Amino acid sequence: MHSNESSGTADDPSPAPAAGTATAVLPEVPDVTAVQPKAEAPDALGAKLEADRVSAWFGDHKVLERVSLTMEPGSVTALIGPSGCGKSTFLRILNRMHELVPSAALAGEVRLDGTDIYAPGQRVTETRRRIGMVFQKPNPFPAMSIDENVTAGLKLTGGRRRRDERQELVERCLTKAGLWREVKDRLSQPGSSLSGGQQQRLCIARSLAVQPDVLLMDEPCSALDPTSTRRIEETIAELRNEVTIVIVTHNMQQAARVSQYCAFFLAEEGSPGSVVEQADTETMFGSPSDPRTSDYIHGRFG
Ligand SMILES: Nc1ncnc2c1ncn2[C@@H]1O[C@H](COP(=O)(O)OP(=O)(O)OP(=O)(O)O)[C@@H](O)[C@H]1O
Ligand SMILES: [Mg+2]
Repeated sequence: MHSNESSGTADDPSPAPAAGTATAVLPEVPDVTAVQPKAEAPDALGAKLEADRVSAWFGDHKVLERVSLTMEPGSVTALIGPSGCGKSTFLRILNRMHELVPSAALAGEVRLDGTDIYAPGQRVTETRRRIGMVFQKPNPFPAMSIDENVTAGLKLTGGRRRRDERQELVERCLTKAGLWREVKDRLSQPGSSLSGGQQQRLCIARSLAVQPDVLLMDEPCSALDPTSTRRIEETIAELRNEVTIVIVTHNMQQAARVSQYCAFFLAEEGSPGSVVEQADTETMFGSPSDPRTSDYIHGRFG
């Protein structure tokens, strides 16, 4: 689905009706002028992540049907769709968290830079280091200090560092997560002393400390106020050349603002979730090809 060609300068593709022509109170349509240009990132550091015909089950309940999606380095891919269509399940399959549910099963392949993360011999801890996750609810370790939170994941990867290296890493990750200036004078205070938005940026810094290739974000702003949301969105924009980003969001404006590519998931009555449409974000919001996509992004259901 992804290509790196420039998006060019299309005529204003805004779907918003001209003033006075709206016939009903339509939900807000994302301002597609805010859509990020497609990735032009030959030097992007993240990895390519490919889901290939991924299906998923909980017990005998099939919840995903042959989802294929390529997530390119240098880009943010937004997963959108109504509640229950399998977005979180798909995200959890991408870093082997799905298998933590005892009844869970899956089929298909997930390739990180060409290697199947489910192949025999692939270490699950290494996969989860390379493919980090940020959750809906910020989950810093509350009793740990801010700087300890940042380096908490290093213990798992077994890296011992000198004190000055550790300090440098803390500053680098907090800076990337857009939090350094706010916390640099209080690094020894507990993670729980931060606001919700700051805690979420702390969790992003913690994810970055183990140098992941991919960052998965499951509704990372849904518990945050608009200002904190904006800060996280800026952070995402700054990180995308460093780490491949996949974000689940219910906020269409957010998907339009932060992503270069989009996939629309849908689980129709009695069927497992599948991808109805995937496209670059501009196309998805400006001229979707499936009427169900159009209905969803215009708030007509879901
Ligand atoms: N641990 C679980 N055990 C059994 N079924 C589950 C489990 N987690 C999710 N499901 C089911 O899998 C389907 C997909 O759920 P999932 O959480 O992936 O949806 P989602 O698109 O992330 O929804 P939302 O937008 O509400 O977060 C749903 O039918 C859900 O009930
Ligand atoms: Mg979910």
